[in-house]
Amino acid sequence: MTVRDAEASEIHQLAKIWFDGWRDAHARLLPEELAWLRTLESFAQRLMAALDRVRVAGPADAPIGFCLTKGSEVNQLYVCSQARGSGVAAALILDAERRLSAEGVPKAWLACAIGNERAARFYEKRGWIRTGTVIEQLEAGSGTFPLEVWRYEKPLR
Ligand SMILES: CC(C)(COP(=O)(O)OP(=O)(O)OC[C@H]1O[C@@H](n2cnc3c(N)ncnc32)[C@H](O)[C@@H]1OP(=O)(O)O)[C@@H](O)C(=O)NCCC(=O)NCCS
Repeated sequence: MTVRDAEASEIHQLAKIWFDGWRDAHARLLPEELAWLRTLESFAQRLMAALDRVRVAGPADAPIGFCLTKGSEVNQLYVCSQARGSGVAAALILDAERRLSAEGVPKAWLACAIGNERAARFYEKRGWIRTGTVIEQLEAGSGTFPLEVWRYEKPLR
């Protein structure tokens, strides 16, 4: 599975993957106020702002998943429902780990919604370690939204 840079022409499709995946994984777990802020448009704006850090899997103009890094963080990882369980997510996170390592990051981290058991299982089988529960200030609209999350870390070398 090839992982490549995202193109601006793919923003809408990527935002849809993020929007649908957010609802699948998070809507039942997270506060309703946060769900109101997680609109398709908000995801498109965040993807556009971070475009040079977005890596995708799938054919040109038909992406099936993406991963976004930010500093030493794997900030977002979403795969469309049809591609889950296929190894696409593994290819995306491996690419992110390699890129962070190449940038000199010794230890990567990520936040996972408490109770997102599928994601937790995925990270743990990829060697990520849950280090505890922390309050993260999530990007939300023009500000932030505090949320208690599971923190995962992985040494990269
Ligand atoms: C999280 C995500 C990227 C993982 O990719 P994936 O292709 O689904 O991952 P995999 O299928 O390789 O691994 C998931 C594992 O969880 C298991 N699993 C599935 N549902 C589960 C559940 N309810 N509880 C516990 N484990 C579960 C699967 O059986 C699999 O484990 P196995 O390989 O030992 O059988 C993908 O599911 C996704 O995009 N989800 C929606 C968005 C999301 O949650 N993103 C992460 C935000 S932190």
